[in-house]
Amino acid sequence: MKSDNIYLPYLMRVEKITQEAPGVKTFRLKFVDSADEDQFAYYTGQFGEYSVFGVGESTFCIASSPTRKGYIECTFRQAGKVTTALADCEEGSLIGFRGPYGNVFPIEQWKGKNIVFIAGGIALPPMRSVIWNVLDLREDYKDITILYGARTVADLVYKDELLGWGSRSDIKMVTTVDPGGDTPEWKGEVGFVPAILEKIAPKAENTVAVVCGPPIMIKLTFPVLEKLGFTPESIYTTLENRMKCGFGKCGRCNIGSTYVCKDGPVFTYEQLKKLPDEY
Ligand SMILES: Cc1cc2nc3c(=O)[nH]c(=O)nc-3n(C[C@H](O)[C@H](O)[C@H](O)COP(=O)(O)OP(=O)(O)OC[C@H]3O[C@@H](n4cnc5c(N)ncnc54)[C@H](O)[C@@H]3O)c2cc1C
Ligand code: FES
Repeated sequence: MKSDNIYLPYLMRVEKITQEAPGVKTFRLKFVDSADEDQFAYYTGQFGEYSVFGVGESTFCIASSPTRKGYIECTFRQAGKVTTALADCEEGSLIGFRGPYGNVFPIEQWKGKNIVFIAGGIALPPMRSVIWNVLDLREDYKDITILYGARTVADLVYKDELLGWGSRSDIKMVTTVDPGGDTPEWKGEVGFVPAILEKIAPKAENTVAVVCGPPIMIKLTFPVLEKLGFTPESIYTTLENRMKCGFGKCGRCNIGSTYVCKDGPVFTYEQLKKLPDEY
């Protein structure tokens, strides 16, 4: 069982690897020690530090839903040292996991509301956790819209799940790719996420919007949501500042006096407006 040393990771076995898109993989991780699994709990929106022994740690959100027990999943893009070592792992490999850290998406407060999920590129993983969490409690929520965009058709992640969500009558699913990123077979939208959001124009009344994407997408999406009538308190996002410890000790992730690792990573647009313009 894991010791009380907060820097010591849980030992996890890579149970399943899915190649999602070029350079992007999902790992399903199981606790090696069942006692660790029994006492482990997390909420949607939280993240962890995933380690390759002898190489280092990387920060990823937990991409699975806490409603699905017995494992956690992460989806990562090969970016540098640690993610390259992770990408070299095979099913059966052992890696480390520290967490969960950070605050959560307040899905209890969203009960009885409509939800619009807006995601871009590799930022679908944190959104996938909250989408599945809400779908597993579907009767607690009203209309659900998912708008997801990627640069090209090949870059869309969770392709099977996108098809599954698209075939459900209780979800309005819209996928889009950037101009030039489509293929002759593509049946979704073509255009940048903020433009498609303006086109589908979800109603703002009794609705929360959740936005996860690259900083430029987030910055261009907020004004569209405001134009559609969403208030800054009804818009949520999650930030990805560089991190080291994950729990407020190293001072790596802060924006002014706000620590993204422990005050976030989930923020409302209302909260972001009060931060220095560095995020
Ligand atoms: C809360 C949080 C959640 C995240 N969730 C995910 C996720 O689900 N999937 C995923 O693929 N990535 C996620 N990231 C980003 C991820 O942490 C980095 O891409 C990863 O740590 C790079 O590790 P590396 O050792 O391979 O790269 P390095 O060798 O450290 O760096 C490679 C390149 O990536 C850049 N980089 C490193 N960290 C970050 C960062 N945090 N933000 C922007 N650029 C960075 C470096 O500047 C460099 O250009 C998340 C980050 C945070 C803080
Ligand atoms: S990551 Fe260390 S203080 Fe936030």
